[in-house]
Amino acid sequence: MAVSPLLIGMPEMRHSSLVVVANRLPIDDSAAPDGACEWRRSPGGLVSALHPLLRHTPATWVGWAGGTGAAPTLPDVDGVRLRAVPLTAEDQRDHYEGFANSTLWPLYHDAVEQPEHHRRWWEAYQRVNRRFAEAAADVAEPGAVVWVQDYHLHLVPGLLRGMRPDLRIGFFLHVPFPPPELFMQLPRRAELLRGMLGADLIGFQRVQAAHNFAQLVAKVLNLPATDRRIGVGERVVRIGAFPVSIDTAEMAALAARPDVAARAQRLRQDLGRPERVILSVDRMDYTKGIEQRLKAYSELLASGHVKVRDTVLVQVAVPSRERVGQYQILRERVEREVGRINGEFGRVGEPAIHYLTQPFDRAELAALYRVADVMAVTPLRDGMNLVAKEYVAARVDDTGALLLSEFAGTAAELSQAYLVNPHDLEGLKEGLLAALRAAPADVSRRMRAMRAHLHEHDIRAWARSYLSALDETGPLVQRMVAATDALPTQPARSAARVEHHPGG
Ligand code: ADP
Ligand code: G6P
Repeated sequence: MAVSPLLIGMPEMRHSSLVVVANRLPIDDSAAPDGACEWRRSPGGLVSALHPLLRHTPATWVGWAGGTGAAPTLPDVDGVRLRAVPLTAEDQRDHYEGFANSTLWPLYHDAVEQPEHHRRWWEAYQRVNRRFAEAAADVAEPGAVVWVQDYHLHLVPGLLRGMRPDLRIGFFLHVPFPPPELFMQLPRRAELLRGMLGADLIGFQRVQAAHNFAQLVAKVLNLPATDRRIGVGERVVRIGAFPVSIDTAEMAALAARPDVAARAQRLRQDLGRPERVILSVDRMDYTKGIEQRLKAYSELLASGHVKVRDTVLVQVAVPSRERVGQYQILRERVEREVGRINGEFGRVGEPAIHYLTQPFDRAELAALYRVADVMAVTPLRDGMNLVAKEYVAARVDDTGALLLSEFAGTAAELSQAYLVNPHDLEGLKEGLLAALRAAPADVSRRMRAMRAHLHEHDIRAWARSYLSALDETGPLVQRMVAATDALPTQPARSAARVEHHPGG
């Protein structure tokens, strides 16, 4: 077992005094070139946020390793103990692909795709939530802090409180929490709210989300609720906004590395030395606004405002939730549109769009961020969007224009970005042109302000503010906060055979 240096001198802080419960473990299995099983970092914002934080802190992470059948025994990763929860093929279909990603995910993202409701999915949601709660109850020491993450596990706080009243329980929602008129559509709305209220502290990305939650609790459960506190019998549950972030220093250090700078230069050459490189990096998800962005770009090419000779678009879209119908349809449509645009506007050796579906390691991603003059992050709705923050952190020379959707949680913090409404095609085109043509002084002024903000509001600041609110007087959390404060800014080495490959 690899021991985190931060454990030394803190013998009383053990792996099971802080337990993180998330549907995803930070690693996924994937076949190595020689056919052997290899574990790689799993994609998505939740893992991107929590992995750099926890690898320095003794903790146990309870989650799903991505397959079906018996739960694998996993090695510790960077000092974090992993405890896999098994899912059957039916659980995967009805809990993960069904209730979590075909009911809650679209509903929480403004219903940009139609949410589906099936009674069988609700059965699976309850069953799987119970299994996660049992696994957490099993590993947590007496009086431990258990931090439950995201929409897959709304029922876990309530179940866990029933099983282990000694625990301090937190819940954090990484995605948007919708306005009452949308949430009210859920047939099991009361059960979901009650499940979350098992926590001592419920964290959201934005103030508006906490407000929506308080309104719903008052309306559906008839409980006394403000935007900060909810009375549940004898208990007071606190709620609030804690915008999640990234390891800013780590991304900046990576982007400043000479090999990454050299790689960025080579990338520009390989792209044909265009005057302007536009980059987008998304999971292939209908919330990310990929189709709208392609349409805007295509119209700018058609009108001659953008020319393939001077400008290239690099669209990275790593496949996600590939067995869900809405995701399959999206991928087909995106690929058809990329093909059409390249066919119509590309030239031999000069495609209009460089389309990549591969997962990249962190250094390659940093090189891509460094080469991008404009980063287009235009989701229709996003809880936060860490890609936008990673781009800003990587622009160590204060250059680069961030085109950012008003509907990403990030926009509340990075207000100096070029903000656009991705539903407004003309506005999107104007925003893209403004970002492409902006004066260098304006670009730098904005980037400096955004980098200063992220320097202060990084992942450690997030953990500090959430965990100290969860357990103001608790000695464990105080020590953990002190430990994360003392973190080195160098990327830690992996403890197991884990490559920091796909995703965030
Ligand atoms: P979401 O959580 O919805 O996926 P975020 O933007 O918050 O969106 O987080 C996505 C994370 O996944 C980021 O950390 C980003 O670096 C990472 N990521 C996305 N695409 C890739 C890719 N192709 N290769 C590696 N990492 C990726
Ligand atoms: C978002 C969700 C996470 C999820 C991630 C990747 O960030 O908030 O909970 O892990 O997307 O999605 P996936 O379905 O692959 O876990």
